[in-house]
Amino acid sequence: MRFLSFLSVFVLACSSIVTVQASEAPVEAPRGDAKAGQTKAATCAACHGADGNSVTPDQPSLAGQGERYLVKQIQDIKSGKRNVAVMTGFVAGLSDQDILDISAFYAAQTPAVTGATDAEKARIGEQIYRAGLASRGVPACSGCHAPTGEGLAAAGFPRLAGQHKKYIVTQLTNFREEMRTNDGDTRIMRGVAEGLSNRDIDAVAEFISGLKK
Ligand code: HEC
Ligand code: HEC
Repeated sequence: MRFLSFLSVFVLACSSIVTVQASEAPVEAPRGDAKAGQTKAATCAACHGADGNSVTPDQPSLAGQGERYLVKQIQDIKSGKRNVAVMTGFVAGLSDQDILDISAFYAAQTPAVTGATDAEKARIGEQIYRAGLASRGVPACSGCHAPTGEGLAAAGFPRLAGQHKKYIVTQLTNFREEMRTNDGDTRIMRGVAEGLSNRDIDAVAEFISGLKK
C-alpha cells in the first residue's frame, strides 16, 4: 500500500515537472528533426527495421515509441548505464542532436499491428496488467503504461503495445535480476518486477504483445 501511494505521488510529481518545463522554456529547448533523423537512423535499420518495426523478437520495435523515452534510452546505452553490447559501436559517435533527431524519427513512425496471442495466457496477463498483484505489492501496469499500452510519452513512460513478447520477457527479467538498472533512483521498474514470477512475466508479456493501440 505504501508503495502504491508512493507511486501516485511520483506520477503527480512527474506530470508537474513536465508542466513547469513546458510553460517556462518552450522556445529554446532543443528539438529533434524527424527528417534528419531518418538519414541518421540508416545504420539502425538492420536490427530495428527501416520504419522502426523490428521483425526479430529480441530486437525491440521503436516505431511510435515516446520521444522522451527514446532519447533517454539512447543516451543510457551510449553512456553504458544500460548495457546493450551489440549497439555500442552504433551509438558511440552520436551527438546530442543526432539522438534528438533519431528519436523524433522513430516517434513519428506507425507501429505495426501484431498477431494473435495465446488467449488463455493473455487473459491471466490482462489481470496483472490492469489490476496488479496486490498480495505481492505489484501495481497495475496500466497506471503508468496506460490501459491501451501506449504509455505516457510526456512523462517518459514507454509504449508497450505490440512490442515483441521475447523482448518484454527479457526486460522484466533483467529488471528483476538487477541486470537492467537504468530506471532511476526510485527503482520504478525494479520495484514492479520484484513481485513477478517467471509465469507472471510470461503471461503479462503475452498480453502486452497482443495490444494493438
Ligand atoms: C546489431 C543490432 C542493433 C543495431 C545495429 C542497433 N540496435 Fe538498438 N537494440 C538492439 C537490441 C538487441 C536491443 C535490446 C537489448 C536488450 O535486450 O536490452 C536494442 C535496444 C535499443 C533501444 C531501447 C528500446 C527500448 O524499448 O527500450 C533503443 C532506443 C535503440 N536500440 C536504438 C538504436 C539506434 C538509434 C540504433 C542506431 C544508431 C540502434 N539501436 C542500432 C540491437 C541493435
Ligand atoms: C509507476 C509507473 C510504472 C508502473 C506501475 C509500471 N511501469 Fe513499466 N516502466 C515505467 C518506466 C518509467 C519505465 C522506463 C524506465 C527507464 O527509463 O529505463 C518502464 C519500463 C518498462 C518496460 C521496458 C520497456 C522497454 O521498451 O524496454 C517494460 C517491459 C515494462 N515497464 C513493463 C511493465 C509491466 C509489465 C508493469 C506491470 C506489472 C509495469 N511496467 C508497471 C513505469 C512503470
